[in-house]
Amino acid sequence: MKTPIRLQPLVDDGLIDEVISQLMSGKEATVYMIRCGDAIRCAKVYKEATKRSFKKAAQYQEGRKTKNSRRGRAMEKGSKYGREEQEKAWQNAEVDALYQCAAAKIRVPVPYGCFDGVLLMELITDANGDVAPRLNDVNLTHAQAMSQHHTMMGYIVRMLCTGIVHGDLSEFNVLVDSHDFSDHRLTTSRRCIR
Ligand SMILES: Nc1ncnc2c1ncn2[C@@H]1O[C@H](COP(=O)(O)OP(=O)(O)O)[C@@H](O)[C@H]1O
Ligand SMILES: [Mg+2]
Repeated sequence: MKTPIRLQPLVDDGLIDEVISQLMSGKEATVYMIRCGDAIRCAKVYKEATKRSFKKAAQYQEGRKTKNSRRGRAMEKGSKYGREEQEKAWQNAEVDALYQCAAAKIRVPVPYGCFDGVLLMELITDANGDVAPRLNDVNLTHAQAMSQHHTMMGYIVRMLCTGIVHGDLSEFNVLVDSHDFSDHRLTTSRRCIR
């Protein structure tokens, strides 16, 4: 497909070789399937602050402490520098959470870095190599549901032990990455708080 404008700098820098298709577009981000060399990956493009709801931004920000006091004061005041820092903190929260979850052996997409407001990560696929369905889109037997609930509770305990709360853990943010339902991946969200 034609390269979306927000992905062009990453194409120019050689981080992306080709944009294959758009997977979804929501209120806060658009997700694309991309090719990097031989690997098929995924690029999550965060919408700019001006295109998002500020009420929500304020909600997500709550409880997120900043260690750098100059940055903290600027973020509170809402100056241009503060807005830029807030924007970075917003995106970094998801990327940080992804790296922390991966280190705690919680199954999340492997992150490949965040550049210019674009998160590059592993594309989660099902056993056929197609984009993995969300938990909401699959039918489970009672036994499968019980087993998956157990797995999920294990991940939640690990997240809590790491100091992470997934603020938006629903059937829409869990991807089922194989046909026998033995594996789930959590998509994180900027609503992760620490
Ligand atoms: N790594 C991924 N692999 C495959 N599909 C993905 C991946 N990340 C996101 N998606 C698809 O994009 C949708 C939105 O991604 P998500 O990270 O949940 O965004 P948001 O924070 O806007 O909810 C997911 O429900 C899923 O269908
Ligand atoms: Mg989501």
